[in-house]
Parts: sequence; C-alpha cells; structure tokens
Amino acid sequence: MSAPAWPAQLGPVICVVGARPNFMKMAPILRAFAAHSPAIPVVLVHTGQHYDRSMNDRLFEDLKLPHPDINLGVGSGSHTVQTAEVMRRFEPVLDDYRPSCVLVVGDVNSTLACSLVAVKKEIPVVHVEAGLRSYDRRMPEEINRVLTDQMADRLYTTERSAQANLEAEGIDAARVCFVGNVMIDSLLHNRAMARPVAQTLAEAGIAADWLAPGSAYGVITLHRPSNVDQPETLQPLLATLARISEHLPLIFAMHPRTRANIERFGLQELLPAARIAVLPPQGYLEMLGLMDGARLVLTDSGGLQEETTALGVPCLTLRENTERPITVEQGSNTLVGIVPASIEQATQAVLAGAGKSGRMPELWDGQAAERIAADLYAWLSAAAATPHAEGVRHV
Ligand code: UD1
Repeated sequence: MSAPAWPAQLGPVICVVGARPNFMKMAPILRAFAAHSPAIPVVLVHTGQHYDRSMNDRLFEDLKLPHPDINLGVGSGSHTVQTAEVMRRFEPVLDDYRPSCVLVVGDVNSTLACSLVAVKKEIPVVHVEAGLRSYDRRMPEEINRVLTDQMADRLYTTERSAQANLEAEGIDAARVCFVGNVMIDSLLHNRAMARPVAQTLAEAGIAADWLAPGSAYGVITLHRPSNVDQPETLQPLLATLARISEHLPLIFAMHPRTRANIERFGLQELLPAARIAVLPPQGYLEMLGLMDGARLVLTDSGGLQEETTALGVPCLTLRENTERPITVEQGSNTLVGIVPASIEQATQAVLAGAGKSGRMPELWDGQAAERIAADLYAWLSAAAATPHAEGVRHV
C-alpha cells in the first residue's frame, strides 16, 4: 500500500520562530512533521526577533534546524515596534503561501504578532505550549500567552494545569489537547550530545584551573526585565550571587540585556572573576552540558525550570511566581523570589543535600511532537472534509 498523500485542498503549515526559546520547541516538531505519514508540508518563518550568532545561529546549528524559508529580519525594538514590524512583514507571507494553519510556540512577541495576523485573515492558529499562566500581567510573556490562546483554534498543552487555566478563560476544552512537552523532546534527543563543561569553559576563555575536574559548580541565567532592568533590583541580586559564589563557583551564561545593564549601571565589580565565570549566551548543547553537571541552577528563565526538572537538577527560580507549576509540584524547582536572604537560605539547603531531584512529569517522554503531528493531521483532515466545521474558518 502506498503512503497516504497530504490532502490536495490543504496548504502547508507555516511554523513560526522568533526568539531563542522557540528554537528548541520547534526542532522536534519539524522532525515529527517530516516523519509523519503523510509528511506534513512546512514553511519555516523566522521573524528575526533574535539575530545574534550567540542567540540564534549557534542554536540553529546545535538543534539541526533547517534554514528558515523566510526571515522577516525585524531585529530589536520596543515591544510595540517589534510586534508591529512582525505583523506588517508577516501578512504578505500568508497571502503568498495560503497555509492551512499557522503554528506558533511559546510566548514571545513573535508568537503573539503572527497569531494576530493569522486570525485576522481567518487562518487557523495552532499554539504549542498553550495555557501556561503566571497570573502576573506585568510579564510581557503573560500577555502574549493569554492573547495567543484566545486566538488559537487548536491548543497543545504541556501539563494538566494548563487545561484548567484555559477553561477558566472560556476556551472550549474540545480545542485543547494535552500532548506533553516538546522542549523535553529536544532535551532527551540531544542529552547524549551535550558539550562537556570543561570544553565550554575553555571555549569561553576561562583558565583550565578555574574549576578542578569533578568539582561542584552552579549555573546562573538572568534576563527578565523585572530582575535586570533596574539597578535597585539588579545590584542586590548580583551581590547575593557573589556571596553564594564563596561557597560554590558559579557559571553565569549572560543574556545581552543583562550584560548591557550591568555595564550601564557600572555593576561589573560585583562579580568576582575568581568565583563567577561570566560566559556569553551559550549554544544549546553547551547549556545542556552546563545544567546536566550542575549542583544547582539559579535562574529566572521559564525554559530552564522545565529542563532542570527533566534533568533532576535542583533549580532555584528567582521569581515570585511560575507559569510552570508542575516543575515545583513534581519537579526539582523551588520558587525563591529575589529577597537575598531567601536565595541564600535556599542555596545553603541545596548545598547541605536538601535539594529537590523530583520526578519526570506526565508525558514528558520525548514523544510530544509526534503526538502533535498525529493530532494536527487528523484535525486538519477533518476540517478539510467539513469546511464549515466550527473553529476552522478557512482551509
Ligand atoms: C525575549 C522573550 C523572552 C525570552 C527571551 C529569551 C519577548 C517578550 N521576550 O526576551 O520571553 O525568554 O527572549 O532570550 O518576546 N538582543 C541582542 N541579540 C539578539 C537578540 C536581542 O543583543 O540576538 C538584545 C536586544 O537588543 C535587546 C535585548 O537583547 O536589548 C532583549 O532582546 P528582546 O528580544 O527584546 O527580548 P528578550 O529580553 O531577549
């Protein structure tokens, strides 16, 4: 029997990436779409929100992501400018390709912008990593999540709490599908290829004797505007990290926003080079190696909370809330906020052996993207057969 063909009346799936945290989510989806029978045709659009070699190209290489079919080249700007530019440049792409749907991942500005363009043109929106809520509207990502989910026709979730969040916002449960976590698909796929810590440090120009082989170390990432944009917040955070580094050497993979602010506020002196190794933003395999070998991770990233849970490495999250509660309930994550005493206390507890190792959440099994491919194919095929089906306006 020959393999089934992609229905002639269905256009390709436009898959959108924009910023670093999108790339590890999209890579397994593209693999699963190519492997699906029939293969799901894809047009990969990069908005260009992130563009540096360190924020973009290295991740594309590590994750073996194909070269985007289209790069909108929007670059940096205020949220308004960035969002508006993506919208303006994305619209003609939809006219050219007439896709069956637009698939967006995560919660960055590009996610919202492309969803808004698609929904206005009556093209179905598919959101991967739907329903996560911090219930903190000061986070730009929270606005992006809420609005993208309101526009989405098909919503794929990573944890069961997401479904309840969506239902509370009036989103029909029939549109929601719990598939697991594509970011963990990437992690499991790449874990064996993770770069050794010594190599990562050497590549960053850190002297070989900075960390003796086998010694414990911690990893830091910080980039949330609420943590790094005001000197009154950033200064005590860095001072706390410096104190922690007296007990545990720390490797700080520094986001461009954080680096720029440290320089602008003149806070470089707070980071003792002998105990805190400052690295540029890392590739995917480097970051995986750094986290996998760490005694603990201190972060304000959403993605790292999930990755450390999958690795069983204690994670102290320097935020008051999380949109990923399963990482706290079942995983290795602890919310410690940004009060210095709480951070130091929690760190001491981990160093004393009380760190959480947690367990792997339901369906974080490396197969989430395959479940998305199967469901999306069934959903689009059904819509193609009944063009006026509710929730699908145009295929
Ligand atoms: C964005 C996402 C955030 C994600 C983060 C990961 C939104 C609202 N935020 O925040 O969810 O966790 O990416 O990195 O979409 N910059 C560079 N090189 C680049 C990209 C950015 O130097 O390749 C600089 C920009 O000039 C800017 C700063 O980094 O000053 C912030 O970039 P931006 O894309 O605005 O937001 P992020 O803070 O990275």
